[in-house]
Amino acid sequence: MANNHRTIGNVLRGVWIRICASCARHLFPAQLRMPFYRWMGMKIGKGTKIAASVDIDGSAPELITIGNNVWVTRGVMLLCHQRDLSQYEVGKPVMDCPLKYAPITIKDGAHIGIGSIIMPGVTIGEGAVIGAGAVVTKDVPPYSIAVGTPAKVIKTFAN
Ligand SMILES: CC(C)(COP(=O)(O)OP(=O)(O)OC[C@H]1O[C@@H](n2cnc3c(N)ncnc32)[C@H](O)[C@@H]1OP(=O)(O)O)[C@@H](O)C(=O)NCCC(=O)NCCS
Repeated sequence: MANNHRTIGNVLRGVWIRICASCARHLFPAQLRMPFYRWMGMKIGKGTKIAASVDIDGSAPELITIGNNVWVTRGVMLLCHQRDLSQYEVGKPVMDCPLKYAPITIKDGAHIGIGSIIMPGVTIGEGAVIGAGAVVTKDVPPYSIAVGTPAKVIKTFAN
């Protein structure tokens, strides 16, 4: 889980992550972006490409693992945290609910469609294809296509 206590070390780490994220978002060609993502703490395999304008969760990039030969297309958001609403009650500010963190794993050869959102805790299987604009809230099996909000599998490729 990400450690977000306000120590000087964490503030400097946050600044470093945001500098890297900003460079990575805009650099061209795609290969130049990859070191910045790794310096943020993401684990990324070989041959993987991340398009411009991809949004990485700056609060916990170390929770993101991407395999080999993955294609993360433009405008995708990889989100590793959200509010824990299990104790939320009427009359209580939602901001008082603690944050909870969960990893994202994208396996080899997956294709993440334009503008999609991958939610905390999701694993995208090997060779899976995520449709444009999907909101992926659950794991996606290998070699399948998932589309929509929330994303549902519409096709699975046989061996
Ligand atoms: C998901 C996707 C891969 C499906 O491609 P496909 O296998 O050729 O599927 P089809 O176009 O035949 O569509 C199959 C069904 O899914 C629906 N569908 C396709 N893409 C969809 C999407 N992004 N969201 C919701 N539904 C979608 C179609 O309307 C169709 O529905 P129907 O069976 O009720 O008619 C493709 O539509 C897509 O979104 N690709 C991502 C494109 C992208 O991100 N490009 C970035 C640059 S590479």
